[in-house]
Amino acid sequence: EIINVDALEILDSRGRPTLSVHIGLADGSTGWAGVPSGASTGSREAVELRDHEDDSRYGGAGVLKAVGSVEGEIARLLRRCGWTSLAEVDEALVELDGTDDKSRLGANAIVGVSMALARALAAREGGLLYEYLVSEQVAPRLPVPHFNVLNGGVHAANPLDFQEFMIAPMCATSMSEAVQIGAEVYAALRRRLAAEGQTTTLGDEGGFAPQLTDPEEALALLVTATENAGYTPGLRGVAIALDPAASEFREPDGSYRVGRARLSTSELIKRYAVMIEDYPIWSIEDGLAEDDEDGWHSLTGRLGDRIQLVGDDNFVTNPKIIKSAIERGIGNAALIKLNQIGTVTETLQAIALCRDGGYAQMISHRSGETHDDFIADLAVAAGCGQIKSGAPARGERVAKYNRLLEIAAHDPHLPFGLPGVISRRHAF
Ligand code: PGA
Ligand code: ZN
Repeated sequence: EIINVDALEILDSRGRPTLSVHIGLADGSTGWAGVPSGASTGSREAVELRDHEDDSRYGGAGVLKAVGSVEGEIARLLRRCGWTSLAEVDEALVELDGTDDKSRLGANAIVGVSMALARALAAREGGLLYEYLVSEQVAPRLPVPHFNVLNGGVHAANPLDFQEFMIAPMCATSMSEAVQIGAEVYAALRRRLAAEGQTTTLGDEGGFAPQLTDPEEALALLVTATENAGYTPGLRGVAIALDPAASEFREPDGSYRVGRARLSTSELIKRYAVMIEDYPIWSIEDGLAEDDEDGWHSLTGRLGDRIQLVGDDNFVTNPKIIKSAIERGIGNAALIKLNQIGTVTETLQAIALCRDGGYAQMISHRSGETHDDFIADLAVAAGCGQIKSGAPARGERVAKYNRLLEIAAHDPHLPFGLPGVISRRHAF
C-alpha cells in the first residue's frame, strides 16, 4: 500500500545538504520529512551517509548517495505489500541496512523515511501526528519550551566553551504564555547586549553569541534579561537549563577547558555545584564528556537529587545504551533526538524505557535543522513536558514552537508543563 517513495537533496539551516523525503500511500495519504543534522555529535550516534568521495559538490557533504538509498533499495522494500505497522517497516529498514550504526544506507536516509511514513500513516487516520504517535500508557501534554538564547561551543564563533544557555518559563500556565515569555526575555537580552556594546550576532541555534568567556557571565546576563523583561528568575519562575556539551571542551589529558581555566572532573562538578546555588539552574545536559564514565557517576551522586542531569552524547537516544545507563544509575534524564538512533520506532522505545525506568526525557532538535516540525508532535506524544528547539527566533527554530501553539489551539484540553513526577523530584 506504499506506492511513492521519493527523496530530494535540500539545504539545512547551516546551508549544508540534507534530505527531504516524500511518501505516498495507495489511498492518497502522503507524508513528508526534513532530516536534521548535528554538529556536536556523540561518537555512538547512527551515522549520516554523505558523498565524501565527491568533494566537487558541497565539499563532499552532498547527500545524493542517501537520496539513492531512499529511491533505490528502500523504495523497493517499502513497495512490497502487506505492511501492518510503522514498527514493522522500521524493523525491516534496520535489517535491510544491516549495520549497527545505519551507515550503509545512511541514518539520514532511514530516519527521513521513518518520519515521512509516520506522517503518512497519521494522515490516513485523519488525526494530528501526535495522536498517531501517542501510546496508550501516556497522557499527552504540551512541553515547557527550553529556549537556547545564548550560544557557544561549536555552535558559535565566540570564546564561550559551554554550548547552550537555555531559559525555561516554568511559571507559564500555557504554551502561548511560555512562547511569549521566551520571546520577551530574548528581546530584553538583545537590548542588554546592545547596551553593553556587545555583538548581537547569532549562533547556529538562533541564540546570541556575544564575546563572553566564563559561563557565569552568560548566566548573569540571563538573570538580568529575565528581570528586565518583567519576570522572576527562579525554579518556579523563569528557570535556566544548560547544555555545556562537555565532550567538546575536554582536553586530551582528561581536563576540561572552561574559559581560562583547566578543570579536573571533580573541579568541574564543584563549579556546577556553585553555579546551581547562585543561579536558578534546574537542568544540566552533558555536564561531563561522554567517555567520562566515573565522572558521570560522581556527578549523579553529587547533584542528581537536586537537578536534572540529561545524557545526550553518552546516551545517543539508543535504547540499549539507555537501558544500561538506567541500570548503572548514570544521570536521571535522556535527551531524545530522532536522527541519533535513526527510526521513529526506536525513538519511541527509548522514550518508553526512560519512562519505565524513572528517567525524564527532553525532546530535541539538532543544530542543523529544516522547517520540519515533527519533534513538536513527538514531545506532546511523549508526555515528557520538555522540549528544546533553540531560540524563539529563526524560521527552523520557531517552526517547532509555532507547531506547539497550533496543537495547543487545536486541543485546548491538553495540559501544559512538566509532569508532576518531574517537578516533585526537583521540588518545584
Ligand atoms: P548538535 O547539538 O545538534 O550540534 O549535536 C545539540 C546538542 O548537543 O544537544
Ligand atoms: Zn547536547
